[in-house]
Amino acid sequence: MLKCSKAMTSEPISDVEALAALDARARGLDAWSLARFEALKSDQGYQLMGIGDDSTQALLAFAVFSVGPFDLELEMIAVDPSHRRQGLAGQLIVAMIEQGEAKGLERVLLEVRAGNDAAQALYERHGFEVDGRRAGYYPQASGGREDAILMSRPLARQEQGAERPAQ
Ligand SMILES: CC(C)(COP(=O)(O)OP(=O)(O)OC[C@H]1O[C@@H](n2cnc3c(N)ncnc32)[C@H](O)[C@@H]1OP(=O)(O)O)[C@@H](O)C(=O)NCCC(=O)NCCS
Repeated sequence: MLKCSKAMTSEPISDVEALAALDARARGLDAWSLARFEALKSDQGYQLMGIGDDSTQALLAFAVFSVGPFDLELEMIAVDPSHRRQGLAGQLIVAMIEQGEAKGLERVLLEVRAGNDAAQALYERHGFEVDGRRAGYYPQASGGREDAILMSRPLARQEQGAERPAQ
């Protein structure tokens, strides 16, 4: 398992069971299925970054994002409950932003549950701003619906050596 300084690695992608187990610990009933992680693994449109414990090799945090012609979209970020508030999610977001800037992309987009104060605080800390709200977007375990908050963050232009998206 690699540290986040080398986080853009395919190594964690190969262990989809570890990803699904961490997601279940982090997000309970909202966690993605093993089949969904299997599908992500073979989908070129998605990238996955992970942070592992160097001594135990355990997966501690991951982020999944999709890469479009102009934007990155953060699809999911999750940190093991026993390793929160240690900056792991922040490291993944910084690495994702660096990826986007290196590709010459314009923005990072995301959607987050209106009630997820921790994630919204994380995103605001990393320069995301609220663009809007989508009513009743997420299902709730109770049977109701929850609004999505739409957020984005511009990416800095890199004038020299930037890798442009394929035309
Ligand atoms: C949201 C989540 C990814 C944050 O991971 P994390 O590694 O604990 O976050 P970081 O340590 O990088 O936190 C960076 C900053 O975000 C903010 N933040 C993170 N968690 C917070 C919380 N519970 N309450 C308030 N602010 C919080 C703080 O500003 C924090 O900085 P600080 O610790 O110096 O105060 C984690 O709580 C998680 O996995 N939650 C369940 C999955 C989830 O909701 N994912 C988002 C789906 S869109």
